[in-house]
Amino acid sequence: MDDVAIGAMIEAALTARRHAHAPYSRFAVGAAMRCERGLLHAGCNVENAAYPEGLCAEAGAIAALIMAGSRRITAVVVAAGGSGPCTPCGGCRQKIREFADPGTPIHMVDPNGQVLLASSLAELLPRSFGPDSLG
Ligand code: THU
Repeated sequence: MDDVAIGAMIEAALTARRHAHAPYSRFAVGAAMRCERGLLHAGCNVENAAYPEGLCAEAGAIAALIMAGSRRITAVVVAAGGSGPCTPCGGCRQKIREFADPGTPIHMVDPNGQVLLASSLAELLPRSFGPDSLG
């Protein structure tokens, strides 16, 4: 990812993180996704008193991207605290896969916007099952 693009994505992810509803885990997450039109779409985690009903930040960002009329994810930034890089959970890796090529960059940043890990969908979800797998 080029510096200008990632800078804007990091800002969007950090801003989204500030909207997190995470009273149960107290683990706020923000996600920003770039689409095929170069637009940014963001989401935050939204927890629920019925714990399994909570939504990840990535799911919110995907919903925003699709709702905006876009259909492809070309880059992802996830912003969170914690002891190390906050990589997308398994379910979110699969959700991203629906709209992204394996080479899609996924960057994890801390609450200051520092990049902790620069990875890719292929690295996080190897040998994945996607729309093309259906034949
Ligand atoms: N969470 C995300 O939103 N994205 C991730 O990549 C990892 C985890 C959320 C789910 C839950 O609200 C909280 O972080 C703690 O697991």
